Amino acid sequence: MSEHLRAMRLLPVLGTAAMIAVGGLIGGGPLPVAARVPGQSAQVVQGEQVYARACQSCHGANLEGTVGPPLDAARLTAYGTAARLYQYVRGTMPMDAPGSLSEQEYYDVIAYLLQRNGLLPPETTLDASTAADIALRP
Ligand code: HEC
Repeated sequence: MSEHLRAMRLLPVLGTAAMIAVGGLIGGGPLPVAARVPGQSAQVVQGEQVYARACQSCHGANLEGTVGPPLDAARLTAYGTAARLYQYVRGTMPMDAPGSLSEQEYYDVIAYLLQRNGLLPPETTLDASTAADIALRP
């Protein structure tokens, strides 16, 4: 077989490899739904992304606190309800740019904080209509 023919035979293989590579790049956005932890709502998944972007630098990857305090159950339950926690966070956080997130992003990130601390009731979407009724008890 000539060198030329050999190269022609390889082309389809190379084409497929290139498509897989490009597909990998395009697929590099948010985590696919299949990667969700069971029981974690879409809101909590969104909130985790808001946290990574806007809060993690001061509160740590595991809410353990770095520049800011840890965001643990003892601190969060001090607010009494999710609505009061929302008011505080919206008014003061991120500390370097208070009020800079959308209302939805604030609810999402708080849902994430509550869920991580076992304080979000199951099957609950946190929003303006539910926040006052979500009691945060130690
Ligand atoms: C630039 C650093 C910084 C960033 C970014 C930041 N925080 Fe904070 N955060 C702090 C500091 C410092 C405090 C303590 C404030 C105080 O004691 O007055 C705090 C306090 C808090 C508290 C109150 C804790 C308590 O003990 O009552 C919550 C809740 C909180 N932050 C949530 C968030 C959330 C949610 C985000 C992201 C949207 C965020 N923070 C982003 C620095 C930051």
